[in-house]
Amino acid sequence: FFQAEDDIRDKLVTGVQTCDLPICSNFVRHALQTHADWNVNTLDKLTYAGRRENLHDVMDHDRHVFVHGDILDAAVSGPLVEQSHLVVHFAAETHVDRSIMAAGEFIRTDVEGTFTLLEAARRAPHLRRFVQISTDEVYGSVPTGSSRETDELRPRNPYAASKAGADRLAYSYWATHGVPIIITRASNNYGPYQFPEKVIPLFVTNAIDDRPLPLYGDGRNVRDWLHVLDHCRALDVVIDRGVDGEVYNVGGGNDVMNVDLTRRILQVLGKPLSLITPVADRQGHDRRYSLDTTKLRGLGWTPQVDFAQGLAETVAWYRDNPWWWRPIKEQDPQFQAYYRAQYNSRT
Ligand code: TYD
Repeated sequence: FFQAEDDIRDKLVTGVQTCDLPICSNFVRHALQTHADWNVNTLDKLTYAGRRENLHDVMDHDRHVFVHGDILDAAVSGPLVEQSHLVVHFAAETHVDRSIMAAGEFIRTDVEGTFTLLEAARRAPHLRRFVQISTDEVYGSVPTGSSRETDELRPRNPYAASKAGADRLAYSYWATHGVPIIITRASNNYGPYQFPEKVIPLFVTNAIDDRPLPLYGDGRNVRDWLHVLDHCRALDVVIDRGVDGEVYNVGGGNDVMNVDLTRRILQVLGKPLSLITPVADRQGHDRRYSLDTTKLRGLGWTPQVDFAQGLAETVAWYRDNPWWWRPIKEQDPQFQAYYRAQYNSRT
């Protein structure tokens, strides 16, 4: 996601690519709605999880330009970065289970892709902020308490390690080259347009069709759920008031066990608990993530979406928008092959 102001014609506010397009597409929509003076460029590779449909309602917006390309292609991403005032770098391969099956794309996109954008950022004359979207997974599993920005990074799966690499690489470009980097480490996002490989959209859409919900291990792993719009508002705050070179945790404060999350989804949909199907655990499955968000709250941000309400609205969105997810689950051979490879051996 890349943004610039009127005096620069070709601008990029946000660079997005692949699996995190759900967050980026929500941010693009949010940015166009709340910042009337922003011109937004979205760069997306449109891999399996990056879909034009995620931006369907803003594709023709007069302050938005969509560019189909790869952040690793410096000939495409370089000029976009160089012409921007703001870069929000969401582009990443993000699905842990896929990184366990094959990690190469994670290293290429998350680490080398970030490197490509950072190199361009060194040359960008108007750049005021480069926000590196990182993740709570860089801290690794935290049995008790909550991770603070100064805690040691102990990523434990290839996805988390690739994000930790990108996170620290971005930091080094601030410390070494003075690029105006801010790093945000967000917890698990939920909301509309999330690819149905992630637990919430997968379980909601399976439950709608009365299909089993494959719950890993004992189901007692904990994730801290953050509504994607609270994430967008946090990004506004750090873009506006954050300090270069600093890291900000962005967590919803909703630490929920997977089994409780699953029960809530079934309750909202009025479906039976018998759909819950325990399956073999994820390898190296992090037990618990939890973020201390004192630092970001100090800048004036607090999450606004109540989890029960946000979850109910999210469930309703998938129920009301089958046009968005049915083609993926029912017609996309790549998704179906992934689903078989991921789940057939577990059950
Ligand atoms: P996920 O949405 O993949 O996010 P992350 O691994 O980045 O936290 O998974 C969230 C939690 O749900 C995680 O503890 C793994 C669990 N999970 C299942 O139990 N079954 C599933 O089919 C999936 C995809 C995840």
